[in-house]
Amino acid sequence: MSTFSFTVHRDPRWWQHPLVFAPDRWTPEAEAARPRFTYFPFGGGQRQCLGEPFAWMEAAIILAAIGQHWRLIHVPTHRVDLNPLITLRPRYGMPMVLEHRMADLPLHIPGAPQTAQALWDRERPPKIVTGEDL
Ligand code: HEM
Repeated sequence: MSTFSFTVHRDPRWWQHPLVFAPDRWTPEAEAARPRFTYFPFGGGQRQCLGEPFAWMEAAIILAAIGQHWRLIHVPTHRVDLNPLITLRPRYGMPMVLEHRMADLPLHIPGAPQTAQALWDRERPPKIVTGEDL
């Protein structure tokens, strides 16, 4: 049997505004209110993804490490197109402008920790990277 997660994950019976970032969808109450296979990015049954626990841990660590220091802003003029291969990818990449979160702070902060000042000096924003750089 073959299932098409892209369609199921956007089915209006289970998902309102599916393209909106809404973490509350994954509260225990919200999850309990949905049938089991309305969300299955890692497959299920006998061919369940072997790397699921690792993938969740890896994603949390990487997102926390990046998000602690940087704000990622999608280049608004760049077209995002889907490329459905074995996994779904952005056809033309997703270039981002990286804005250092310390950019909001004044350059010379009396009493600022040495490490914060050193970080500012090393990674002065903004910096443009492409999907291939990440
Ligand atoms: C966000 C990350 C990932 C997603 C969304 C994902 C998703 C999937 C999906 C949909 C399948 C097919 C399941 C099926 O046939 O029903 C699969 C299979 C598999 N995945 Fe992942 N995966 C991810 C990361 C990983 C990682 C990090 C590893 C290894 C460290 C891994 C190892 C595997 C293996 C070995 C299979 C084949 C299992 C089998 O056919 O018995 N995956 N994955």
